[in-house]
Amino acid sequence: MTNSPPPPGTSDIMPEEIGVWHFIENAAHKVFRLYGYGEIRTPVLEFTEVFVHGLGSETDVVRKEMYTFKDRGGRDLTLRPEGTAGIIRALCATDIFAGIDKKVYYMGPMFRGERPAAGRKRQFHQIGVENAGRILPEFDAECIFMFMHYLQEIGIEGHSLLMSTRATPEDRKPAEKALKEYYSSHVSGMCEDCKIRFERNIWRILDCKNPQCAPFISETPDMLGYFGDDSRRHFEKVCALLDKMNVKYTVEPRLVRGLDYYVHTVFEVTHPGLGAQNALAGGGRYRIRPSGAKKEVEGIGFAAGMERLVMALQNHASHAQETPFAYIAPLCAEAVLPCMEIAKGLRLGNLSTVAEYEPRSLKSALRAADRLSAKFAIVAGESELEKSLFLCKDMKNGTQKEFPISEIVAQLMSQI
Ligand code: HAM
Repeated sequence: MTNSPPPPGTSDIMPEEIGVWHFIENAAHKVFRLYGYGEIRTPVLEFTEVFVHGLGSETDVVRKEMYTFKDRGGRDLTLRPEGTAGIIRALCATDIFAGIDKKVYYMGPMFRGERPAAGRKRQFHQIGVENAGRILPEFDAECIFMFMHYLQEIGIEGHSLLMSTRATPEDRKPAEKALKEYYSSHVSGMCEDCKIRFERNIWRILDCKNPQCAPFISETPDMLGYFGDDSRRHFEKVCALLDKMNVKYTVEPRLVRGLDYYVHTVFEVTHPGLGAQNALAGGGRYRIRPSGAKKEVEGIGFAAGMERLVMALQNHASHAQETPFAYIAPLCAEAVLPCMEIAKGLRLGNLSTVAEYEPRSLKSALRAADRLSAKFAIVAGESELEKSLFLCKDMKNGTQKEFPISEIVAQLMSQI
């Protein structure tokens, strides 16, 4: 069989694999609605400035990873690398600036031009939430708890929650000064990217995965102690609330996250079953000022990689593909039309049915029913049609019965 693969870093999700995707999507609809979130769908294509503005022009995502192009009208467009910036753009059209919060969840494809690796793709999918418009540590804790609830709902275990704070930009300044002092004596021995980060955005150094930089990063002074009182209080409150809700976490002062919009709480959830790309989800509190808006919008949210949720789940449980209730096949040309009629009746009665419209042998019909894992195989050849009957075989226990054509739908519907 010839195989024509899609572009590097993208993949086809085939019907045999989709069961687990539906499972995690349905659980998201269920759990997030319990917390008052409504689904939002924003375009995959946004004006480039939505991300340059929203994520920060110095982030790796904006500098190196966006799929950006000019359309035929000369507009700068980008395939969304993440969901938050576009959602905040969309929410600006609501009454979000009047102190009314908006709670939304989303799922869909994101695009980043990263080097493909196991668990790292160029087109990947996220399930995420944003709770925008209100500034309360209680919402941070609720949002994190909601993700833990979601993981429990889908049966993922063994994950770790890492917590930190990015403080506010004002409260971050003394810490930034301390970082400059520390790295000024080490930067010459660090990777080329970190040399640029040192000049442009020193916090990004803490996110560097290059082994050459690891010894310097592990000795970085604890930045939490340098942050101002307001930021420290916000973080302590979130941690205290998580304690109250029995959510286990580890404070990881070097967790800075890859996007520049974060303030206060940041968090990541890792899973040991994922290999090197072990982040199942990441999120935090953010401030974004959409272009044209007079004020910043503040919110709390997270996004989980759907491929990674699937990976974490497949290491633990199996989620079988849906199988048809019935497989129906004609064994002679005259049986084609009755097959179509019966299939129509079964489907209108909500019984999934795969129909064959070319006569085949009994043996091959039963083989096909078996391959599809259908509950019943329904067939008729000349001898059955003469008596206006169809033969139904229960594929599990092997019993078979003949039913009049006019009764077959009712008979099978009584079997469920
Ligand atoms: P992020 O950490 O960039 O955050 O991405 C969130 C999750 O998406 C990651 O933890 C990972 O599971 C998945 N992910 C990211 N990049 C890839 C990739 N190349 N291949 C496969 N999976 C990937 C955000 O996107 C923020 N918008 C989250 C957020 C929402 N913060 C506040 N609100």
